[in-house]
Amino acid sequence: MAKKLHIKTYGCQMNVYDSERIAEVLAPLGYQLVDGQHGPVGADMVILNTCHIREKAAEKVYSELGRLRIHKDAQTAQGKRMVLAVTGCVAQAEGEEVLRRAPYVDMVFGPQTYHRLPQMVAEATRASGQVLDTDFPAESKFDALPTARTVDGASAFLSIQEGCDKFCTYCVVPYTRGAEFSRPTQDVLEEARNLVDCGALEITFLGQNVNNYHGDSGDGTEWNLARLIHAAAEIDGLERIRFTTSYPAEVDDALIAAHRDVAKLMPYLHLPVQSGSDRVLKAMNRQHGTLAYRRVVDKLRHARPDLALSSDFIVGFPGETDADFQATLDLVEEVNFIQAYSFKYSPRPGTPAALMDDQVHEAVKAERLARLQAVLNRQTLAFNTQMVGQTSAVLLDRSGKKPGQLVGRSPYMQAVVVDVAGALAERLLNTIVDVTIVSAGPNSLMGRLIGVASDAPDVKVCA
Ligand code: 5AD
Ligand code: SF4
Repeated sequence: MAKKLHIKTYGCQMNVYDSERIAEVLAPLGYQLVDGQHGPVGADMVILNTCHIREKAAEKVYSELGRLRIHKDAQTAQGKRMVLAVTGCVAQAEGEEVLRRAPYVDMVFGPQTYHRLPQMVAEATRASGQVLDTDFPAESKFDALPTARTVDGASAFLSIQEGCDKFCTYCVVPYTRGAEFSRPTQDVLEEARNLVDCGALEITFLGQNVNNYHGDSGDGTEWNLARLIHAAAEIDGLERIRFTTSYPAEVDDALIAAHRDVAKLMPYLHLPVQSGSDRVLKAMNRQHGTLAYRRVVDKLRHARPDLALSSDFIVGFPGETDADFQATLDLVEEVNFIQAYSFKYSPRPGTPAALMDDQVHEAVKAERLARLQAVLNRQTLAFNTQMVGQTSAVLLDRSGKKPGQLVGRSPYMQAVVVDVAGALAERLLNTIVDVTIVSAGPNSLMGRLIGVASDAPDVKVCA
């Protein structure tokens, strides 16, 4: 009988990708994913895929583990075993600490070792001892993972690059994800073709510094991201290409040209600036100043006039003054972001910024965050509102909260809700349709279907 597997994923898209691959590694051992709705109840294995980027994210893990212990005890009371595992960046950064604070955890493994899960599971289930594997192994997990993909869905993630050598002074990623590594181009393209065979219409290439991708092509040359995008665009059936997250100082001319030349590349770019103050950017060890950032944005918009930008911001970095913060607000006003993530600076153990003098008071951080978010939210709403009356191509990839609705993404990653029910909804799920945008809010748009072809091809489903 199939064993029930529940995976709870926190943090970035890289973790979402890793969770899918973890499920694929465990499938041959008889583990089958159960839907989130039933969660950990009665599960044979529960895995938390964790995020360490800010303190709040890391602390969540321990409270969730406390809750999971109750489920584990309930299983034990029925004479069953629930294997409890922690992976992701908290596992990597503080694996020993996880086992100390939550001794009922059976396995702790890092993001680079999950291809070894079959051995780990055997060890954890055979003996009652704990398993800890947070190596950065010499072999790449990608070489050991199955090449066939089993995930279906019209929008897929594909990890092409991992790790980071940038060492921004606030960031744990270089410590939790290790050195930068690009997957060979042929492996990436094979995985992309597999995903398209499983029904993917859209693929998002993932990497901590995805635009610094330089993959071995097998013929002695290295391909950059632009070249990979051109090759992926040749895949029949693939309609949309995206990539995230980009490092501003490494947006090169080839990538800018790809935005001009590759129609399948969506006109939306996540380009984290973090701050609008050169002084703060320097203290953050970012390799771009505000001038360089503005220049890249100008070039991108020149190449692709309908390109829209999103960004990440940190407020209250050590030493950030009112004037520095004002410079961030000014940059936001000038550049105009249609979407953004903004955070209060969170000191992370082991990073240089955590040891800097002049840490900013919590109340100041909160006040700045609220002011920044007010401006960013206004920009998002303005962008969403000007879409009303326009036609947009929407990739419908899930059911809505209300019955009779499907939800999808516009080229600009806006959530678009469409009223459609019954057989038509079944047929349109996981397809791209044209809709007229009829209303807009801060978080989503409403769209009305136009010109749905009755002979639209059937949706492919992966075996
Ligand atoms: N505190 C606050 N935000 C952070 N980020 C990364 N490290 C920290 C930190 N220590 C933010 C950055 C990054 C995003 C993924 O998380 O904005 O781009
Ligand atoms: Fe962290 Fe900077 Fe690397 Fe991004 S570029 S992962 S913020 S160290």
